[in-house]
Amino acid sequence: MDNRPIGVFDSGLGGLTGVRELAKLLPGEDIVYFGDTARTPYGSRSRDTILRYGKQDIEFLLSKGVKAILCACNTVSSTLPETYTDALPVPFVGVVRAAAAAAAARSASGRIGIIATAATVRSGSYEAAIRPLRADARLTAQACPLFVPVIENGYLDRRNPITVTLAREYLAPIRAAGVDTLILGCTHYPLIAGTIADEMGPGVTLVDSGAEGALALRRLLEERDLLCGRVQGGNLSFYVSDSGENFAEIGALFLGRDLSGGIHPYTLLE
Ligand code: DGL
Repeated sequence: MDNRPIGVFDSGLGGLTGVRELAKLLPGEDIVYFGDTARTPYGSRSRDTILRYGKQDIEFLLSKGVKAILCACNTVSSTLPETYTDALPVPFVGVVRAAAAAAAARSASGRIGIIATAATVRSGSYEAAIRPLRADARLTAQACPLFVPVIENGYLDRRNPITVTLAREYLAPIRAAGVDTLILGCTHYPLIAGTIADEMGPGVTLVDSGAEGALALRRLLEERDLLCGRVQGGNLSFYVSDSGENFAEIGALFLGRDLSGGIHPYTLLE
């Protein structure tokens, strides 16, 4: 048993998709979240910058005494080498492997779509994770660089004309490939899952990388006997590196609870 908090991080709001699932699966656990809102988006940056930011995010969570880390950012999860994550003093779960395994298991036809940031698509991380699990997989990946700023700015309504136009444009090649499963390979995207589902149609299963990461983390905590002693009443605290306004507003909508009292500003040192 271990009563220390779980650490979760992302470049901004996206990782809340992992927090929502974790809080549902493990309601007694304390969770410390870090959203690097001053430097979002990560997905259009260089590999070296993403590595630097990701390592700083992890150092911050370690300074809060967490017992395990969920990297609820596909961009960082695609970029950090295993030699680094394996050497961390606490267990580390990245969303890419978890979502890749779920997609490989759920797809009937093996035709799998991946939408993600430019950095995640460029890294080839999903292809590398799926191929050993499904030799017959036919993958179609599409970078959607404008989704993250649109989501961070709150254009979340299912019929928002800007979001719908972007989704139509980005998803056209995925639809043309006839996929039966689509990985939301950026943890921000479940916030516009309704618009994406409308574009893809009812025959396509969406895989939520944040939620899959949370499930993988629960399995790991169970296996290593690291769950806390409570079954209810876990505390959620949120740290953001820039203004918490949008974060509080959209986060409250998304998590279904008021965050205003639990958001703390924290600036990472360059
Ligand atoms: N939500 C993140 C991801 O899963 C990061 C998006 C970004 O900052 O570009 O990739």
